[in-house]
Formats: sequence, C-alpha cells, structure tokens
Amino acid sequence: MVVVMTPEATDEDVARVVERVEGVGGEAFVSTGVVRTIVGLVGDIDSFHGLNLRSLPGVGAVHRISDPYKLVSRQHHPDRSTVWVGGVPIGPDTFTFIAGPCAVESAAQTLEAAEMAKAAGATLMRGGAYKPRTSPYAFQGLGVAGLEILSSVREATGLPVVTEVVDARDVPVVAEHADMLQVGTRNMANFGLLQAVGESGRPVLLKRGMTATIEEWLMAAEYIAQRGNLDVVLCERGIRTFEPATRNTLDISAVPVVQATSHLPIIVDPSHAAGRKDLVVPLSRAAIAVGADGVIVDVHPDPETALCDGPQALLGNELRLLAQAVRQLPPAVGRVDA
Ligand code: E4P
Ligand code: PEP
Repeated sequence: MVVVMTPEATDEDVARVVERVEGVGGEAFVSTGVVRTIVGLVGDIDSFHGLNLRSLPGVGAVHRISDPYKLVSRQHHPDRSTVWVGGVPIGPDTFTFIAGPCAVESAAQTLEAAEMAKAAGATLMRGGAYKPRTSPYAFQGLGVAGLEILSSVREATGLPVVTEVVDARDVPVVAEHADMLQVGTRNMANFGLLQAVGESGRPVLLKRGMTATIEEWLMAAEYIAQRGNLDVVLCERGIRTFEPATRNTLDISAVPVVQATSHLPIIVDPSHAAGRKDLVVPLSRAAIAVGADGVIVDVHPDPETALCDGPQALLGNELRLLAQAVRQLPPAVGRVDA
C-alpha cells in the first residue's frame, strides 16, 4: 500500500502517518521527491484499512498496489518523474545527452574527453574511477585519484559528473565528488550497495543487470527508493542473448515497457550494449525515436590506446553524427534539449 502526501503536507503530517502505521505493527518507508512525499507501507493490509489514513491531514491518496514494487511503480505515481543532476533535468519533457570516457585514465585524457563531450552538446559527463572488470588483471580504475580528476574536470568544463561506485564502502567518497552515482550492470542486484546509494543523498543511475528481467531491475530500484531516495534514473544497456554480433543485445522495447509501469526516467547506453562504435549512432537514433529520456555514450580522444572499452568509444565523424542526432531528433518526438 502507498500513501501519497499532498504537496502542502508538513513533516508532522508525514510523522502522523508513520506513527499510525507503526502503531498497528506495520513498517512505513518515507521517500521524499521534489514535489511530494510518498510513504510505502509494508504489513497487514487489513489492519491498515482500519486506520482510515485517507482522512488524515496532508494525505492526498491511498493506493493498494499490486505490482511487487511500490515506490517506483506508476500505479501510485501516474506522472512520470524528472530527476535533477547538478541542475540538469532527466525526465519526460527533455532529452539528456551524457558523454565522457569509459574510464578516467589521466587528467589530460579526461579533460580532453569531457571537452569533446561538451562540444558535441553533452550536458553531463560520465567517467569511471572504479571499473568493474571481468579480469582482475585488467585496469581497475584510478580510485580516489580518479575522483579528484573528475572534480577538477567538472570545475574546468562546468559539466556535472556521473560516475560508478562498485563497493558500498566507497559510497561516501564517491558521493563527495560525484553529482550522480552509477550502479553498473554487474552490481544491479548487489542489495547492500543499492541500500548504500539509497542513503547517499545523491541521484542514482541504475543500469539494468545484463541477465535481469525488467521486474528484477525495478525491484532493484525499489531497494534504493525504500532507503528514501526517489532520484533514480534507469539505464537500459543491453542484455545477454544468444547473438554474438554485439557484446549485448540492446532491449529497445524495455524503454516503453518501463515507462508504462514505472514513473522513473529511463535512458539508454548504446556503447556498452553494442561494444562497437559503428552501432552507437544508429542505436542512439533508435533510443530517441522510442522515447528514451536520454543517452549515455563513451567518447575518447584516442580510442586505440584506451585502457577500457576502446572499440566502442566515439570521436571524429561518429561523434559529429551523434551530436547531430541528439540536436535534431528529440524535437521531432516532442522533447527539448536538457
Ligand atoms: C567497464 O566499463 C566495461 O564496460 C566493462 O566492465 C569491461 O568489461 P571487460 O572487463 O570484460 O573488458
Ligand atoms: C560503464 O558505464 O562504465 C559500465 C561499466 O557499464 P555497464 O555496467 O553497463 O557495463
């Protein structure tokens, strides 16, 4: 069950709801959004009915939810949400272009990649200081030194930073430097990490696990929301199928499916889905056409020497074509640049 507070509800109104619910042995999880607060109830639904919560001050609506996820469901929150990242919106009215290097390798490489991203029209930059690698011998990222580089590149370019955290113990230090915390495909079901980012005070970019169903992915988002953080953006980044032509198969239909069931924004990562730079522009065009709220793309000043994922990084003509697509196509589907 979910209680939706009115925009005018006070902290006392919310506390009263929590107190009543706990008074009958239930649990209440409060999530505060930009416009309104919602309270997810867990426990015996019949005992909640007896509380007549709808009549309490500050309560706008009470919904019985049948989806297994509650706080991220569209059933109680029919309007699609906008999440703000360092002043940049990601949501239903805009199209947000995020770009940057796969990995932070040095200050010069990161700055150059961020400048390329900005020149192409990106309003947020990406870049990993902690890299989740298949091989323990592969480049694992620069860690805190990489975060410091990201902070200085934000200062130089003005682009807010999206960066991955792979270990719950690192959440505080990553949150200190990042405007948005990314949870990658390999950690989508790392529930301790999800809870930690849920308490970080930062917006979260939650990538789809490469073997996860949409419902499992939304349940992962629910873990973050349940810790009080509704500023979650989903990212479709391809799933593992029998098709070896691409690294993963971009599940483009996930975008409208998610939008029908969850109010959270959803963007697409064509770089990690395909693993091939020649597919990034066509898949980005597809993402815009299907109604995604943005794309996140790898760029690199010298992909051949990249320490991670060089074959999917854009520069030169491909980046120019992408810039053109993200400038020209979103207005055709009713969106403005974010
Ligand atoms: C990280 O950004 C990479 O996309 C991915 O984790 C790399 O996979 P690999 O370690 O198998 O190269
Ligand atoms: C990334 O974006 O750097 C990344 C590792 O992506 P994914 O988790 O989707 O593989």
